[in-house]
Amino acid sequence: MLTQRKNCIQAFCNFRKYSKLASKPWLNGPGLSDFLKKSVPTQTVEEEVPSSVSHYLDAQEHQPENNLESEEQTKNVFVETYGCQMNVNDTEIIQSVMKNAGYNNTNNIDEANVVFLNTCAIREGAEQKIWDRLSNLRHTKKRGVKIGVLGCMAERLKEKLLERDRYVDIVAGPDSYRDLPRLLGEIEGGQQHAVNVILSADETYADIAPVRLSSNGVSAYVTIMRGCDNMCSYCIVPFTRGRERSRSVHSIEDEVRLLSEQGYKEITLLGQNVNSYVDRSEESSTGLGLSDENLPKMSDGFKTIYKLKKGGLRFTELVERVSNIDPEMRIRFTSPHPKDFPDDLLDLVKDRHNVCRSLHVPAQHGNDACLERMRRGYTKESYLELVDKIRKKIPDVSLSSDFISGFCGETELEHSDTISLLQKVKFEHAFLFAYSMREKTNAHRKLKDDVEESVKLRRLQHVTQTFREQMLERYASEVGTTQLVLIDGKSKRSKEQWVGRTDNNKKVIFDDVDHLTDVSTHVPNVKLRPGDYVTVKINDSKAQTLFGTATNRTNMKTFYN
Ligand code: SAH
Ligand code: SF4
Ligand code: F3S
Repeated sequence: MLTQRKNCIQAFCNFRKYSKLASKPWLNGPGLSDFLKKSVPTQTVEEEVPSSVSHYLDAQEHQPENNLESEEQTKNVFVETYGCQMNVNDTEIIQSVMKNAGYNNTNNIDEANVVFLNTCAIREGAEQKIWDRLSNLRHTKKRGVKIGVLGCMAERLKEKLLERDRYVDIVAGPDSYRDLPRLLGEIEGGQQHAVNVILSADETYADIAPVRLSSNGVSAYVTIMRGCDNMCSYCIVPFTRGRERSRSVHSIEDEVRLLSEQGYKEITLLGQNVNSYVDRSEESSTGLGLSDENLPKMSDGFKTIYKLKKGGLRFTELVERVSNIDPEMRIRFTSPHPKDFPDDLLDLVKDRHNVCRSLHVPAQHGNDACLERMRRGYTKESYLELVDKIRKKIPDVSLSSDFISGFCGETELEHSDTISLLQKVKFEHAFLFAYSMREKTNAHRKLKDDVEESVKLRRLQHVTQTFREQMLERYASEVGTTQLVLIDGKSKRSKEQWVGRTDNNKKVIFDDVDHLTDVSTHVPNVKLRPGDYVTVKINDSKAQTLFGTATNRTNMKTFYN
């Protein structure tokens, strides 16, 4: 865990934490506090960001309700989740599979018969955390608990995992969750280990209804595609998640419709490469996302290493259709690739009130030669042109990004190009990492991990400070504006305050009051609840939080009219 913390920084951190970075950069999980029950040491107001804005989670423990259905049922499963939101949603699928197999979800590890760690392999530190966790889980083995390592680290290491830790019973990759009951059956039948790490070309779990464990009833994740074909040279994801494949548009629409009926007010469409979505079983009826030659439209100046395939229903059309389901439901998406932001997608973000004006545009670096070594398919100039176009079309958009410091061969000069990119763009959120070499990747085979660890960390700190200066400016510029805020819940600092988010994904804290009028229904003195939209006048900004005064309850339609 410590290794992971030494190597990356989630730039949602508050300043006190940043100020420690020189000596000890650490990944804190702001934005994770909905998940991080045990592993976040403090709960400051600054960290209190709802689940849907978190991107890469340091360690999450889903602690679902212990929904025992009958007294006799005694098989309990406890799942701990690490990694990105895809893993969070995968855990919801795992819980669903296990529930159907007769297991209860428990939030108490002492009651569990089965403990699953849903793991991440993105950096060395992410895996070290799992090794540490496995060694302190050994005591549970004494009472016969079965331990399963699932997800990306399981996929990466396969049987090697069992060689290193003989207490692990099950190893299952991201495409074998349907098989978990059978794998457990083999162990219960006396087999020593059970492994399924077969990657699938078409598994999307489209027919499995996720058990929404961590949800506040306001926001939910909907996975729309899995895998990645991009093969960025540093990245393990294509090896742990396999080839890109998308769910059918109908299964996604059905899931979103159900979430709307259940009262959810915000969904985040998920995918390792979310905007490469294509449903090939459907033909586009609108042409959105397609060029005249029926090829997918890309952002100007961007290229891809794989051959573009004609036709299908593309991401822009999917977002359009999903946003039609419930005009009061906010739509977000992550994690996109900058190459797949065609103009019609940007127009949709601009024109549709419920498609949120907050875009993640992961740059990774600001230097052309380094971007080339990373195999990202764009230059600094084309990236800046895209940002320019986005900001021109959608002036109040907020932008976030990912950056890697200390990639193979990175010089001081190259690093300074990342700094100037940060200064130009002024992101409101960023996920900042020190490069961690991953076996099997193109960089591992062809390049040298030649930047000293101390240099990586120094540059990471420089990137972090630069990001932070610009971010503070962006937040301060919201003071004096009136924002439509969706309430997530009570503030952790005070029961007298609410916390919610603006359309462009900024956290807002404001006092609970009982004298507001609902301007959409004209009902006076309404009592506010999570999932309500309120207009908030922003009075102050501190770190990555805005503070304001609620002026009325409303809905999206009334607000934008
Ligand atoms: N599909 C997403 C990213 C998924 S991984 C995208 O393309 O944006 C999340 C982030 O982890 C990446 O954006 C990158 O910044 C970081 N990352 C990936 N591999 C890494 C490595 N080997 N070392 C350090 N950071 C890495
Ligand atoms: Fe990794 Fe690149 Fe795919 Fe993102 S787009 S998951 S960084 S290979
Ligand atoms: Fe980690 Fe796998 Fe997500 S490697 S970042 S859990 S796709």
